[in-house]
Formats: sequence, C-alpha cells, structure tokens
Amino acid sequence: MYYSDEIIEEVRSANDIVDVISPYVKLAKKGASYFGLCPFHNEKSGSFSVSQSKQMYYCFGCGAGGNVFTFLMEYEKMSFVESISYLANRAGITLPEVELTEEEKRRKNLKNQLYEVNKEAAKFFHYQLNTKPGEIGKKYFEKRGLSEETQTRFGLGYSNIDGTVLYRYLKNKGYDDNVLKESGLIIMNERGAYDRFRDRVMFPIMDINSKVIGFGGRIIGDGEPKYLNSPETILFDKGRNLYGLNFAKSSRQPNIIICEGYMDVIALHQAGFTQAVAALGTAFTAAHAMLLKRYTNNILMTFDSDGAGVKAALRAIPIMKSAGLSVKAIDMRPYKDPDEFIKALGPEEFQKRIDSAVNSFMYKIDKLSLEYDLNDPAEKTKFINEAAKELTEFEEEIERNNYVEAVAQKFGIDCESLKRLVNRYGNAMEIVQTGESQKRIQDSSQVKEDGVVKSQQILLTLLCNEPQLFGIISKYISPEDFVDDIYNKVAVTVYEQLKDTGNIVPGQIMNMFENEEEHKKVASLFSNDIREGTSVKEKEKILNETILNVKKNSLAFRNKNYSALTGEEKQKFIADKMNLQKIHVTLN
Ligand code: CTP
Ligand code: MN
Repeated sequence: MYYSDEIIEEVRSANDIVDVISPYVKLAKKGASYFGLCPFHNEKSGSFSVSQSKQMYYCFGCGAGGNVFTFLMEYEKMSFVESISYLANRAGITLPEVELTEEEKRRKNLKNQLYEVNKEAAKFFHYQLNTKPGEIGKKYFEKRGLSEETQTRFGLGYSNIDGTVLYRYLKNKGYDDNVLKESGLIIMNERGAYDRFRDRVMFPIMDINSKVIGFGGRIIGDGEPKYLNSPETILFDKGRNLYGLNFAKSSRQPNIIICEGYMDVIALHQAGFTQAVAALGTAFTAAHAMLLKRYTNNILMTFDSDGAGVKAALRAIPIMKSAGLSVKAIDMRPYKDPDEFIKALGPEEFQKRIDSAVNSFMYKIDKLSLEYDLNDPAEKTKFINEAAKELTEFEEEIERNNYVEAVAQKFGIDCESLKRLVNRYGNAMEIVQTGESQKRIQDSSQVKEDGVVKSQQILLTLLCNEPQLFGIISKYISPEDFVDDIYNKVAVTVYEQLKDTGNIVPGQIMNMFENEEEHKKVASLFSNDIREGTSVKEKEKILNETILNVKKNSLAFRNKNYSALTGEEKQKFIADKMNLQKIHVTLN
C-alpha cells in the first residue's frame, strides 16, 4: 500500500522547501529566489536556486531539480517513502501505517546489515591488535605515540596479512556474500572472495552518531598506496562525512580545527584538541562546510604546509566562506602537519599557533606574495595588482577598507593608491560577472532539444511564470497539443490548476514524476524564465511563434495518427487546421 496523493500533498505543503534545504545549502536571497552552491556538483559560484513561491529547486549548472521529496531522495539518498516519513515527522503529521514495498524492505535491511558488518569488522580489527599476528600493528601505533586509551577511543585496529580471515569471520557470523560485497570490505572476483585490507593498521570512520561507515587502512612502513580507504557505499559518502566529528561535536570548544589526515586528528585529540576533524582522501566540499556549520561558525585550518596542502587550503577557503563560516589558518611551519608539530613542540606551542592564527584572507595574500620577488619593483607591482583583485571579494565598503589597510601595512603599499586600484578592479569585475551569469542562464536554457519540444517547453514555462497569459494561450492551445509525454502530463495538470484556482504550484506538480530525469526536465521547465527586460512587443512575437509551432506540431502528429482518431477528434483536427492562419495574439 502506498500513501494517498492527498497525504503526500499535505506533507509536501507543510514543509517549506527553503527551510528544508537551508541546513544543507547556505542560501542567499537574490530577487525572487534563493541561490547557493549546488550540493550536486562542484562549483565556485552559486547556480543552485530555490524558489519559495514554486516550492522547488533547480540548478542552472547541472540541471538537478525537484521538490522537497526529490531533494531528500537525492541528497540523503532516502527512498520516496523515507522522505515522506521524514518530512511528516518534521511537520508533526501522523502518517497512516503503510507497508514497505519489497524494494524498500530490501534497502532498509541492507543498510542495517551494512552497519552491523562494519561494526563487526571494526571490533575484529581492534581485537587483532592484541593477537600475535597483530603485534606489528600495536608496535606501529606505539611508535607513533598513541596511547592505549587513544587506540581504544578511536577503535584503531589491524588487518591480518592472511587475505581471507575477515571474510571467513563475517561469513561465520552469517552474513551473505551480497552484503559483504556491498560493504566494500570484501572484494569478490572469479577467483573468490578476499579482504580488501591486508596487513594495514586500521582506522574506522564513524558518522556523527558514532556508527562505523567505512575504513581507512595505512600501510605499515613505506609503500603505495599509503592509505587505502573503503569505496563509497550506501553508508559511506566521502564528501559528506568528516573524520572525528562524532567526538568534535561535543568538545565544547568555540571552534573546530580542520586538518588533513587521520593521524593528525588523532594526535590532536590526544593532545587535548578534541575539536579536530579531517576530510578524508577527498577535496573539501560544500556539504562538509554545511556539516561544520551545524556546530560552529569558527573554523581553524591546519592543512599541511606543503604545496598540496596550501592548494587544498586555498580551494577550501571560498567554500567555507560561502557557507558563512569564519576561517583562520594555523601556520605549522617548519613542520608538515599537526601530528609532526605536536610531536616536536608539544600542545602548548600548538595552542600558541592557534592564538596567532591569521584570518583566511591574509593567509591567501601571504601565499600569493610568495609567488613574487617583492624586492623587484616590477614583480611587486604585479603582486599589488593581484592582491587588489583579491580585495574586491569584500562587497561591504568598511570591511573592504579594513582589509585594504591591513594588506597595505603588511606589504608597505600606499593605502590610498591601493584603495583606488581595488575600486577600479571592483567596477570591472561587476560588469564581467553579470555578463557571465546571464550567459550561464541562457546556456542552461539552451537544452539540446529539437525546436518542437522546445516550443512546448517555452509555452509551459510562460504559463507557469505568467499565469495571467492562460486566458490567451488556452484560446488556441489545449493540453493535447503538448505531444511530448512529460509536457503533456504537466500541461493537463497546469490547465486544471489554472482553471480551478488561477494559480499553479510547481512543487505539487513535481509529485507526479518519479525518476530523476523526469524531475530534471520538469524542474527546468519551471525554472527557466523569459529574460527579464523583454519588451511587450518581443514577448508578443515569442508568444505568437511559439503557439504556432506547438499547434503545427500537434497537427502533424495528429495527421500521422489520423486513422486512430475518434470522429470528434477528427473534427477538431480539421477545425484546428483551418484556424491555423487565424492565430494571432496581442498583449496590451
Ligand atoms: N590519503 C588517502 N590516500 C592516500 C594518501 C592520503 O586517502 N593514498 C588521505 C588520508 O586520509 C591521509 C590524508 O590524506 O590521512 C593525508 O595524507 P598524507 O599527508 O600523505 O599523510 P599523513 O596524514 O601525514 O599520514 P601519516 O602521518 O600517517 O604519514
Ligand atoms: Mn603525517
């Protein structure tokens, strides 16, 4: 049994899409919509839009789109039924009991089993540390200065050099090969089943609820790859989890320290900095930033001091700032990472570095300055110009001037000249940026569709954005004229809603579609817009051309299927054909 359409609609309309998406994406109001960084693809400027009036989201960059249900299904990987129950709960609506479908039961079951398998494996790896074969692992952790207590707290372990012992152990516990394969712990091929991790020290990766969702394994000594991680599974999404956050979230510190590696997090915790986390084997994402934002607004970065670490830091800064986090960078030189720093100088020195951490903008400018020889006047001029460009990121004058002053002072630049330079670049950037975003919107509406489908799309888009056109359009075009399957389905409902209420709710119409492709197509329909500033004359022209195209195509379609038409339909066909020349729309 499924939930009725009425219930689904009740749940949908009780959950405002802006509120539902806000915890995941930092949204800022721009015109009639909210914009932010798209959580479904990597980007630097926000193409992801959420419309409160339409109750839907759409990304102009990657085409992801849908309503509240779709968002949770795509982002949280929930099933449709899970998303309904989550949102009902959120809005305090009691749902009638339903039975899960077979597919849903299987998924839920699989998820639970994967949690169990991961937990069993973590216990097994940890236990191995105290066995004869595991001695080498134990020694390794000791050598790296990790206390017994730390090893237990982080559930560290060892994976046996014998490549099937974990497999046999889990098999004995009664788990199916299918489940074991899905867990990423066991590799299966023609030759049999093998443990992914062998002769490595093991780091279980936990989610914020301290449930094990994956593993990292470090080679003992030298070799490649140094770290091997679990593959992504339905539990483990690297872009959305931070190592150590399960502990850091209750550290009661005013900030969170983000570093690069497992060992860094563990060494920091052991030294008393229990607010340390790391993004593992993956670039820092907007989802990471939003996860941090749940617990703090203040981030301290201690990425490695080497080139790769600086690069990663420079990439992460704008992502964190877009999420509204305030970011400072800790300088660990001459040491490479927090682990090495603490081992060499101890926690007190590290605390001093925290206290003297510089704000991320100054960090960025510092790193920029290293690329130039500031003793050479020509090089210094280049550097000043680049720094001025960076300074345009501050939109507020007072803030911008504060930074201009700080940079001027630090590098011995005349403050007033720098200010003028920044303003000059600022004006130029503005022009470039608006040009770019306009182009983006046009590009995304230039979906590669043939003109016929395109016309149907434009007409529906017009109807959705300007319901007052319904009277004019419906005089010539009926839902049957939309011959594209999906557009036809949308048109039928749009016509019904406009007739009944004079208004449409795109978020509700989205409910009629199930798969991702359909959601994208329908969301794009509701999100594209006839460019603002289009004159009435231009709009009139577009409207006439589009109506004519849709009608012509509908006639061609019916002509092809003429024999299948009913008598009534045949009459309508002939009437439509005769009236084709008479189509003429005027807007006042
Ligand atoms: N990493 C990874 N795969 C690799 C190398 C690194 O997933 N082949 C990830 C790990 O999460 C690792 C982090 O990137 O912890 C940082 O890597 P690196 O700086 O090379 O290692 P350290 O953290 O310094 O590790 P160690 O101190 O154990 O040498
Ligand atoms: Mn290290």
